Amino acid sequence: MRLVKKSTTRAEDIMGEESDFICDSVNLLTEGCRLSVRMHSSDDWPLAEIISIKDVGNMRFYYVHYIDYNKRLDEWVTEERLDTRKVQYPRKDGQTTGTAGNAGGGGGTGASTPNRKTENISILSQSRPASPLSVPPVPTQNDPTVLTAALQKKIARKRKLVDTEESQEVATATPRQTGSMVMQHDDVVTRMKNVEMIELGLHRISPWYFSPYPQEMVNLNCIYICEFCLKYKKSRTSLYRHSIKCNLRNPPGTEIYRKESISFFEIDGRKNKSYSQNLCLLAKLFLDHKTLYYDTDPFLFYVMTEYDLKGYHIVGYFSKEKESTEDYNVACILTLPPYQRKGYGKLLIEFSYELSKFEGKTGTPEKPLSDLGLLSYRSYWSQTILDILLTVKPTPDNEKPQITINEICELTSIKKEDVVSTLQILNLINYYKGQYIISINKDIITTHIDSFQKRKVRIEPKCLHWTPKDWSKRAKW
Ligand code: ACO
Ligand code: ZN
Repeated sequence: MRLVKKSTTRAEDIMGEESDFICDSVNLLTEGCRLSVRMHSSDDWPLAEIISIKDVGNMRFYYVHYIDYNKRLDEWVTEERLDTRKVQYPRKDGQTTGTAGNAGGGGGTGASTPNRKTENISILSQSRPASPLSVPPVPTQNDPTVLTAALQKKIARKRKLVDTEESQEVATATPRQTGSMVMQHDDVVTRMKNVEMIELGLHRISPWYFSPYPQEMVNLNCIYICEFCLKYKKSRTSLYRHSIKCNLRNPPGTEIYRKESISFFEIDGRKNKSYSQNLCLLAKLFLDHKTLYYDTDPFLFYVMTEYDLKGYHIVGYFSKEKESTEDYNVACILTLPPYQRKGYGKLLIEFSYELSKFEGKTGTPEKPLSDLGLLSYRSYWSQTILDILLTVKPTPDNEKPQITINEICELTSIKKEDVVSTLQILNLINYYKGQYIISINKDIITTHIDSFQKRKVRIEPKCLHWTPKDWSKRAKW
């Protein structure tokens, strides 16, 4: 607590006319303050940082980020969920300081919280074509709607009209890696979830992160998205009117894989620009730090669907650069939340490696991976590599089965560095008498068989009808 001179406040009313100085640490709270906050549906009070403050009627709301938790848990909270007994106030240099009975505290403003262990989904990379638009600076203000409005207004001046029959507009946002104040204000906007809810087919989904849908869409309680062409509408009525005209019952592009109800469609970002851009906008709601590109030309999109009598329903997708100098075989990957934790993520990953096998290359996902991306890839790599190791047979000259790391790479299309790191994480690789030896123990086999049996749906290579294109030989994508 600290003493502050205030004019007219709620606390002053209580304390009487003669009190010029009052103790009211809630009123002292600003963006960048850190304090314990009770998490949604839990009794936990982790340390959190205030990213933004807004007043609605006579209620004050605080947008908080829980330090060391993924940003998808960020939320608006009211005063009773704040523990104001220990507050770290932000310093001018952007660090936080303990002014309310709490010394120290990690640095950073709301825009640049360090050590966010699990939220680092940066899809920006050297290998990628540069974003054609960047987000201009936004003035600092408390109200996130004002911030978003300012940002969108500036974007609107620059944004192109998307090439669609209905001329839907798409804005872009480019996360940048500077520590300037300008960057921090931008970040305050793009760090906050801006879409309340989406409706996609039969699903209502709460977004996890910011996505630059046009301003008139983000003010709504819900965005209604056509599950086949991914166009977004302001109301169910408007979507209904659209559905009468929309004759798509599957993603555009070519169906290159079908096994039972699962299909994959290959979509060229150049040929199906509107669909690809709408897919990126939708995906951004669940992908952090992802750059949205107007220019989808250099990418292919592989959309996985589940078929029923109404059509081919989107489950997830991954994008892939037509040409990657870093051997990336996946740029972004997503399973839509209603389908998560059912094995579809690993099916998408398996499919991406199947494409690499057809290309005769090894591949790796673009780095860094998200927390969930890393979990899924680690699990896929471990299972795939163990599966190979367990099927290697001894040769007549050697009673012990032998396989080289390069052979594992060739058989799986997993890039060498991922094979080596997986073997290290599984603790299977030992240096013995001048060479690396892989030794497998019983526990590993049991765990492997358990998780392998869980994976019921698998990619069947013979169901893939696809010939890789050599994009380097083409004058233009
Ligand atoms: N908590 C704990 N473990 C999880 C969770 C979770 N929330 N989600 C998935 N896993 C684990 C699963 O247990 C499984 O491991 P196991 O088989 O060893 O038990 C593994 O991850 C894969 O699970 P799947 O069901 O196959 O994957 P899912 O369909 O849930 O999709 C994905 C995984 C694509 C990462 C999904 O979580 C997602 O879309 N997240 C949001 C977007 C994202 O982060 N994408 C990756 C970014 S990195 C990049 O794009 C290159
Ligand atoms: Zn449609």
